[in-house]
Amino acid sequence: MFVALTGTPGTGKTTVGDLLSDQGFRVIHLTDIETKCVVGEDKKRECLIYDIDLMNKYLPKDPLLIQSDVCIVEGHLSHLLSGATKIIILRCHPEELKKRLKKKGYPSLKIHENLEAEALDIILCDAACCHITGTIREIDTTHKDPVEVTRFIAVLLQDGFQGEIGRIDWSDWIEKNVG
Ligand SMILES: Nc1ncnc2c1ncn2[C@@H]1O[C@H](COP(=O)(O)OP(=O)(O)O)[C@@H](O)[C@H]1O
Ligand SMILES: [Mg+2]
Repeated sequence: MFVALTGTPGTGKTTVGDLLSDQGFRVIHLTDIETKCVVGEDKKRECLIYDIDLMNKYLPKDPLLIQSDVCIVEGHLSHLLSGATKIIILRCHPEELKKRLKKKGYPSLKIHENLEAEALDIILCDAACCHITGTIREIDTTHKDPVEVTRFIAVLLQDGFQGEIGRIDWSDWIEKNVG
């Protein structure tokens, strides 16, 4: 089972991925592969442009993915990879996400872009375009700590995965901040 652990930056993918790895899960950090798949730079938005086809080419060669029954691929593009059979999307209320991104040192323009993306369910929409809904699970991390989120995912992967989408609603933030 190839599990994509995705979410807007700051929702906790790397933190939770590391904790899952400590618990014995095989975890690939997509950033390790992304460096080989850069095809350009968006100077205005201060970010790199990646070729998803190249990622799809490199990832299946990763020994962790080949050898594991369950392999978690952590990264905000992981839900776009063709081999993913289960998608876990970490979510976070934009007000809380703002605090996390500030702590990570993000510049204010990037913070605002990511808060909008989170509020508008961009990753969920992208995931729903390429995977059937029963394979997608959203998890609200807002008032939880990383250990609790990790425990929840471990149970989900060990005791039978159940999809669940559409319960998370950040429209209160959109009403106050967008438009
Ligand atoms: N419930 C939670 N789950 C994951 N991370 C959390 C949670 N609550 C607070 N955090 C904090 O949010 C930050 C998330 O950063 P990081 O793991 O780098 O996110 P990402 O990899 O998604 O960009 C960390 O500082 C982490 O300690
Ligand atoms: Mg990360």
